[in-house]
Order: sequence, then C-alpha cells, then structure tokens
Amino acid sequence: MSTSGAATEFDNIDYFTDPSLVPDPYPYYDHQRSQCPVLPTSNYGVVAVTGHEEASIVYKDAELYSSCIAVGGPFPPLPFTPEGNDISEQIEAHRAELPMSEHMVTMDPPQHSRARSLLNRLLTPKRLKENEEFMWRLADQQLDEIIGDQTGTVKVEFLEGYAKPFSMLVICDLLGVPEEDHDDFRQMLAPRPGNTVGSLDGETLEHNPLQWLEDKFCAYLEDRRANPRDDILTGLATAKYPEGDTPEIIDVVKSATFLFAAGQETTTKLLSAAMRLLAERPDVVERLRNDRSKIPNFVEEMLRMESPVKSAFRLVKKDTTLGGVDLKAGTIVMVNPGAINRDPRRFDDPHEFDFERSNVREHLAFGRGAHSCPGGPLARVEGRVSIERLLDRMDNLRLDEEKHGPAGDRKFNYEPTFILRGLTEINIEFTPRQPDAATS
Ligand code: HEM
Repeated sequence: MSTSGAATEFDNIDYFTDPSLVPDPYPYYDHQRSQCPVLPTSNYGVVAVTGHEEASIVYKDAELYSSCIAVGGPFPPLPFTPEGNDISEQIEAHRAELPMSEHMVTMDPPQHSRARSLLNRLLTPKRLKENEEFMWRLADQQLDEIIGDQTGTVKVEFLEGYAKPFSMLVICDLLGVPEEDHDDFRQMLAPRPGNTVGSLDGETLEHNPLQWLEDKFCAYLEDRRANPRDDILTGLATAKYPEGDTPEIIDVVKSATFLFAAGQETTTKLLSAAMRLLAERPDVVERLRNDRSKIPNFVEEMLRMESPVKSAFRLVKKDTTLGGVDLKAGTIVMVNPGAINRDPRRFDDPHEFDFERSNVREHLAFGRGAHSCPGGPLARVEGRVSIERLLDRMDNLRLDEEKHGPAGDRKFNYEPTFILRGLTEINIEFTPRQPDAATS
C-alpha cells in the first residue's frame, strides 16, 4: 500500500467503528499526528490529540477541559446543544444525564476531589505493601493451578488462566474482601476456563457485573458500619470526606466497585501484552533473567508501547487554543495514550521496544493531572511481581503455534473497541522450571 493510498484510506475511516484499525492502530495515529498533533476530524467533530505535549496540557487543565464525557466521548451524543463561549453551566445542568456520571472518572472539581479523597484512605503506602505481599502468594497460586503436576510442556490461555483472575483478586485484596469470598468473586468475574461466565449457585451476572459488585459491597459496608471490626472494609465504611462529613454508603460503594472496572481490564491488558512480547522475544527474557532490576523498566516500556487505555475524552468548557488550533466550547477532544506515547518529538524511534531508553517513564499511559490513575503504583507492582514469577517458573516460553500460527505469519485478535487496547487471547507453551533453578 503506498503512503498516499494509505493516507486517503485513513482520512475516510471512522476511528470509532472501523475494524481495520483494531489490530494495529499505530500507523493511523502517526498519520493523524503528521498532519497536526491536534487534528479536527470528520468523526463526529472529534478533535484527535496525538501529541505528547498537547495531551499533557489537556490532562492538566480541568478548568478548560471537563471530564464529563471521559469514557464514551461522542457516544451517546451530548444531551444539550453547546451555546456561547463558556458551557460550564450547561455541563452542570445536564451532568446527571451523562453516562457514568456517578463515577469519579467523569467528575470535575470540586466534586471529583471529594470522591477521590475517599480513595486516598485505601491507597496508602501501608495498604499497598500488604497488597504486594498478597500478590506474591497469588501469583504462585495461579501458576500452581496452571502447572499442576505436569513436568512436560504446559499449554495455557494466559488471559483466563492468569491475567484476569490475578488482576481481579488483587483488587479484592486491596478492598479487604475476605479471602473466603475470593472464589465467589472469581466465579462471577473471572471464571476458571470451562466454567460459565458469571454464574454462582443459580445467580447469573448477565450484562451488569457492576450491579453484582454493588450489591455485594453494599452488604459488606452496611455490616461494617453496624458491626465495626479491625479490617479494611471497616476503614472504608467509616471513611469521611476531608470536611468531616460521612459519605452515603452508595457513594463509598461506587468508589470501591469502580476500582474493578478501572483496574481489572486495564491490568489484564498490560499483562497479556507483556506475555506476547516475552513469548516472541527470548532475547528479552534472557536479558531480564540476567538482570532483574530491569523488570520495572520493562513494565514502563510495555505501558508506553501498548497503552491499555486507548482513548480518553474531554469536553472543552471555554473557547481556547491548543497547539495553535482554535477549540470552541463544546468541542470533544480525544486523547489517545497509544498515540501520544509514540510521539517521535518525545521518544526516539517510538515504535521500537527498548526498555533501556532513558525517558522510559515519561509515557502517559496512566494519564496525568487530577484524574491521573490512582491505581498506577499498584498496576506497576502487579506487572513486576508477575514477571518475576513467570521468569521463576517458566522455561522455554513460546507462543502456541497451533493457535497463533508460525513465526512470520502470526495471528492475534484484539478487542474491537476504541476505549481499550488488548488481546482477546494469548496462548502460550512452556516447560515448568524446576524450583531449584528459580532464582527467588
Ligand atoms: C495498567 C493498568 C492501568 C492503566 C493503563 C490505567 C489507566 C488509567 C488512565 C489513563 C486513567 C485516566 C483516565 C482519564 O484521565 O480520563 C485512569 C483512571 C483511573 N484508574 Fe487506572 N489504569 C490502570 C490500572 C488501574 C488500577 C489497578 C486501578 C485500581 C486499583 C485503577 C483505578 C483507576 C481509577 C479509580 C481511575 C479514575 C481516577 C479519577 O478519575 O480520578 N486503574 N486509569
């Protein structure tokens, strides 16, 4: 395909629905950036921000850029017609009609700061340290389950076998869900291969996993308010806003359950992207085995190269200019972490996987500013612990060629969505590594 041919095709494409962009959206992002890092498109009037510097400005300025449409962007259309050069009042008048308005990701200050302060009770250094201890145990349990008593080649679909249950149970532990309930959560939210999705003693999840979670957390928190114990759920149930008032149970429940929505899929996608890379690059596995202090950098470079959040949106509140482009109040701005993290003005050879690059931590996979991901430190540890344990327990790691095809003709499926970037499955093979060969 010639460059100009590709350009014409890209110009006529609907980013939000065209399946051809799903396997590899990066040439499309490059094409947009080469025209302008702040590019008005014909897709629902959305302005695509593919430049690192410009995206940082958007993320950091909650006064000019509202998060009220953070997740869905142009879908559904705004419930009002923007009027004038400042639509702050219109946003507030219609906020409750916007999807996910009860979750912090769509809130603006000061409401957002209050919701976020509840999370700060949870994500303390002490809690994160305890959570890491749980992760080491959990990683081993997951791998024990995969390996069983096999000594020859082990085959596993890594998302169902490891990444999904691991990232879900880490959040259970973070929130203090009692360990005796973990199996119910696993069965409802990340069932073992072969089990029916979301089915527990006749109770089915159907379309709304958040509802099941909300009922569960309402029950936990009501119980802890009535019968306080020395546990994390009690801490959550009795948390107060900075002004000293006590939130409604439902507001605490929303904060807690949203962590599953925000933290499970994203981390699963990070882990599966890392697995694809490791299974295809024995040289990288070898380098990490020889110097495990490089694992955190590996995780950062993975986040840069395959940012799990693909698109985040903001609504321009007041007329402004970004990167020399005039934006009218009411314009929908789309920031694509996958694009800004491959901006050649920020990263040399941006399409090369190089975990030795000096500015590896400058990616914006966790966003920036008031909404920057509060789970970032946790996700980083999840990545580090998992990779440590995979190196400990797997030898001769490779892709299952029956599922992904031979070298030079590999096949991978990615989830057909503009919101997240992630594999639908990743089938691997390995030989269990003898415990005495493991380094830790
Ligand atoms: C690799 C894993 C993850 C990635 C790439 C990621 C990415 C992001 C990004 C880009 C945002 C900002 C969205 C915006 O600005 O509109 C965000 C927000 C958020 N993330 Fe994460 N996240 C990850 C893991 C987690 C985990 C593990 C948790 C929880 C334990 C979590 C909880 C949240 C929450 C609650 C928000 C909303 C924050 C706010 O609106 O103030 N995330 N995440």
